[in-house]
Amino acid sequence: MKFAIIGGSGLARLAELDNPRRQVVRTPWGDPSGPLTHGSIDGVDLVFLARHGYGHTLAPHEINYRANLWALHQAGVDGVVSVATVGGIREDFGPGALVLPDQIIDYTTGRCCTFFEGPGQPVVHVDFTWPYDAGLRARLAQAAAQIGETLADAGTYGCTQGPRLETAAEIRRMQRDGCDLVGMTGMPEAALARELELPYAALAVVANHAAGLGDSSGAVSLDAITAVVEQAMVRVRAILAEFVRRGAAPQPWAPGWR
Ligand code: HPA
Repeated sequence: MKFAIIGGSGLARLAELDNPRRQVVRTPWGDPSGPLTHGSIDGVDLVFLARHGYGHTLAPHEINYRANLWALHQAGVDGVVSVATVGGIREDFGPGALVLPDQIIDYTTGRCCTFFEGPGQPVVHVDFTWPYDAGLRARLAQAAAQIGETLADAGTYGCTQGPRLETAAEIRRMQRDGCDLVGMTGMPEAALARELELPYAALAVVANHAAGLGDSSGAVSLDAITAVVEQAMVRVRAILAEFVRRGAAPQPWAPGWR
């Protein structure tokens, strides 16, 4: 098995990669956020892509999600793990919490959200009832458990347009909608992966209480976010390394996982 990891804010490089090689890829949809980095961890190959570019220059709405997913698909990966920083809406998802979301609500507008458009393209409606891949989520949970990390195993990810953070009222509305997490990059990434039939899962890193909640009741502290994300990424890197190592071995199907 060869997996791709898309790194979000706070994870623009995977220092753990042995023998890293960069590959510039062009796609029919334009250029990805940057070159793909091929490498291995303990002899297991993987591909890494920095979602916001290696210099973190692309805002969530500027990312060419189609080119990113197309490039990873072309690289022949068996699945994609997305690492994404988010705000926590559910009370127990405070700064530093790591979550494997199992559902998405899309609040974005105007993003290129399908490969099936344009002249001569058929109209295709993919099933998206369960947006994240059960097998990949189980593998991530098992990797976390193996190294003694706590990973909450469900949650609804609300994807906002950004780049501004949300108002307190928007978060209250998202709360009523059933969102547990808020981020800006989960869509259309997950849907595009589904269109390419690429198994996809997200590892969400809670950076802050969402606007209006907890210690973000007056404002969201961006300084605090940086510190939390930096610390949390140490744990994320350890989970990913274990995940990749386990990728070398076939995994038994884990019942109960969606
Ligand atoms: N909202 C949206 N995206 C985010 C947040 C947030 O509060 N924190 C980190 N990414």
